[in-house]
Amino acid sequence: MKPSLYFFLGVFGAIALSWAAIVVGSHRQLRALGTHFDPLDNMSVPAAMSGQAAQGQRVYQELGCGACHTQQVRRYGYGWDQNRGWGERQSVARDYALQTHPQLGQARIGPDLANFGERAVKAGVDRAKLYRMLHDGQGGMPAFSFLFERRAIVGQKSSAALALPVAPGWQVVPTSRAEALVSYLLALKQDYALPEAPAAVIPAAVPATPAPAASTAPAATAPAKTP
Ligand code: HEC
Repeated sequence: MKPSLYFFLGVFGAIALSWAAIVVGSHRQLRALGTHFDPLDNMSVPAAMSGQAAQGQRVYQELGCGACHTQQVRRYGYGWDQNRGWGERQSVARDYALQTHPQLGQARIGPDLANFGERAVKAGVDRAKLYRMLHDGQGGMPAFSFLFERRAIVGQKSSAALALPVAPGWQVVPTSRAEALVSYLLALKQDYALPEAPAAVIPAAVPATPAPAASTAPAATAPAKTP
């Protein structure tokens, strides 16, 4: 055989092997992943999103929100997002099992949004406040004012109209894309328990200063001191 054929077979074999291991292996592992039935709450989790929220996921994807926001909570020891108030437990593959286009993201210019819906309810952030935030932008978050349109008031003013100074007889209202996007943001919740992702296990006390020289135990695993 010619050396060039060996070379070709070698390159082909390396690519085929890595493709099988990464693509086929992961697919086999994850394709059977379904929802988890929680007998205590008598429901399956995660629940499917509403149609409008699923449309909003496409809008989120088209607008590139994922360039600045992740949707994956990291566990204790790997970034610890619980400490930032972004989720009570780490995200796992099953959280995205029913989503057609999961938006995991990579960079965190803005906060993680995996549990934004839950956070919004606690902070009293409603649809109106989210429309305003998207229209104006805030603290490093760009404005997406093209998701809104100026429309003449016919009959009654829309209940979703933004409180902006506009000429009499006119209003600024969210387009259907903005409505879907906000439904999606409010549907972002990983507030259920999964067997493979129990609540964060955090050591009772992490000493602020290094342990004394006599101690050989590593600082993070040192037993908690009881007063
Ligand atoms: C250029 C980076 C960037 C892009 C692109 C971006 N954001 Fe943001 N976003 C931010 C920053 C930074 C903040 C934090 C703002 C603050 O602290 O006031 C933020 C905050 C938010 C918040 C509030 C989060 C919270 O926990 O309070 C939401 C919701 C949000 N963005 C949604 C979106 C959506 C939806 C899109 C796409 C339409 C988007 N962002 C695109 C940077 C970005």
